[in-house]
Amino acid sequence: MCGIVGYVGPRRALDVVVEGLRRLEYRGYDSSGVAVIGADGLQVAKKAGRIENLDKELATRSITGSTAMGHTRWATHGAPNDRNAHPHTDASGRVAVIHNGIIENFGALRAELERDGVELVSETDTETVAHLVAAQLEAQGGSLADALRAVCRRLQGAFTLVLLDAQEPDVVVAARRNSPLVLGVGDGETFLGSDVAAFIEFTREAVELGQNQIVEIRRDGYVITDFDGKPAEGTPFHIDWDLTAAEKGGYEYFMLKEIQEQPAAVRDTLLGHLVSGQIVLDEQRFDQQELRDIDKVFIVACGTAYHAGMIGKQAIEHWTRVPVEVEMASEFRYRDPVLDRQTLVVAISQSGETADTLEAVRHARDQRAKVLAICNTNGAQIPRESDAVIYTHAGPEIGVAATKTFLAQVAAVELLGLALAQARGTKYGDEIIREFDDLCSVPDAIAEVLTVVEPVRALAREIAQSKTILFLGRHVGYPVALEGALKLKELAYMHAEGFPAGELKHGPIALIEEGLPVVVVMPSPTGRPLLHQKMLSNVAEIKARGARTIVISEADDSAARNLAAHFIAVPSVPTLLSPFVTTVPLQVLAAEIAQARGCDVDKPRNLAKSVTVE
Ligand code: AGP
Repeated sequence: MCGIVGYVGPRRALDVVVEGLRRLEYRGYDSSGVAVIGADGLQVAKKAGRIENLDKELATRSITGSTAMGHTRWATHGAPNDRNAHPHTDASGRVAVIHNGIIENFGALRAELERDGVELVSETDTETVAHLVAAQLEAQGGSLADALRAVCRRLQGAFTLVLLDAQEPDVVVAARRNSPLVLGVGDGETFLGSDVAAFIEFTREAVELGQNQIVEIRRDGYVITDFDGKPAEGTPFHIDWDLTAAEKGGYEYFMLKEIQEQPAAVRDTLLGHLVSGQIVLDEQRFDQQELRDIDKVFIVACGTAYHAGMIGKQAIEHWTRVPVEVEMASEFRYRDPVLDRQTLVVAISQSGETADTLEAVRHARDQRAKVLAICNTNGAQIPRESDAVIYTHAGPEIGVAATKTFLAQVAAVELLGLALAQARGTKYGDEIIREFDDLCSVPDAIAEVLTVVEPVRALAREIAQSKTILFLGRHVGYPVALEGALKLKELAYMHAEGFPAGELKHGPIALIEEGLPVVVVMPSPTGRPLLHQKMLSNVAEIKARGARTIVISEADDSAARNLAAHFIAVPSVPTLLSPFVTTVPLQVLAAEIAQARGCDVDKPRNLAKSVTVE
């Protein structure tokens, strides 16, 4: 998730673009850069780190012009450094490109370019586009838009691409597929942005581009076509938001926007991991035999990431039959765990800087265990100190409470389970592809849940003043119950507790009293009939004692619906994928209760987004 700005018009284009990047910095801040066409041709400036670093670089340059584009990067492929910062150019410097998304087939494209003698200077997928478009212009002539259309027809994956051509100084050309891009239409000037925050101070007339569309913007307007060159339409709209609202996509809090971004976070995390029927990881420095030799897995993490690990345990053990222990990172090294070269330690951390998890990684390395990181921050300390990495692609998560990074972590740890099953042969190739396809269907299921959460918001306002709320689950529903309780604690400062439902009768049932809200995460009645039956008994037991039963289950689970004071229906998905859909109502419940209690949803008291002290 990166920030993109484009501009053609009478203003000093550099100022418009850099100011726009400042407003989009929440979309990514690993590096930033600009490209401008003016009297001195096409000029590029880019620096790793925050925009202040780009400002310092620009202060040493004299870059003027009225056609420009800019980019703030959230690194996916290639560490966050100057070399990998956008824009990228072809060897001659004629074509510059910036990109948001993931080009799944960039490996094959890089290999083709290298065979043609092209020297690529970065590790990014983006740079391949600059060389391909320049080669297209060289070979076929035509316009930049023609060349980009031809190249886009070869790209797989999700992308927003924006390009400049030194030989077409009055136009900015862009393309989009499964990645955001909007136009701003001014008087004698036209803008591009990954969202309207990029240009809202200049115009409130916008046009949203559709899938597989190319747009050329000029001072006097824009032209839209599809990838084959046929005329196409965008969707015009008037922007009602103010600047602050625009940065939050119109939501009052970043977290509410991030809850809505979860389908894309999961989809982007899975992109590119199935190549020719094989699961591939992002970065892996141990071979298939080493994966086969693994006889024990530890998952170490904190907080929400720990809950993702609990779900990962169920998937990895079910698919590989390798024993998995999930450990609080802060406890792991102090209990002197038994580790050796056949142990795989999986460190899950969205920030990649959590001190407890980092120290657990260091301890594992000291004991010669192999370490794999699951991280949302490219180049962070934990992935840097690991043997292998799976990056989640949730984009920056501004809200302190983890939401989209949690579901992305679950996707990544289940992906790891498939990679281990593939290496060990505990699942056939066709079974792995089927499981991966099931995973890829999850974003739609999450999106479906997001369309029906209004009743959850109403319920939240009803129970917002409860003294506590309990959460029950079994199997993969138990970590979901823990996550629901954690969200409520950290967002609404309300006591909450998650239990494995089977534990109720061993003590916690004494807490049940008239009207006490109890959230129950049901197993699938078809996927886990025995577990479902036992859970029905648990719900009946607490209902008989006066609990206000809030039950999450598949829509056709009539038995659960009959026991529910409030029934929250979710789509039917395979058991190991059910956390993707059962978690979302709990995130919404906690956020709504927090708002009803006047809490700051994005910045809960006493908390930090990354806990860099033990
Ligand atoms: C989650 O909502 C919390 N903000 C917190 O528990 C978080 O998950 C934990 O601190 C781990 O952070 P990490 O993923 O960056 O390592």
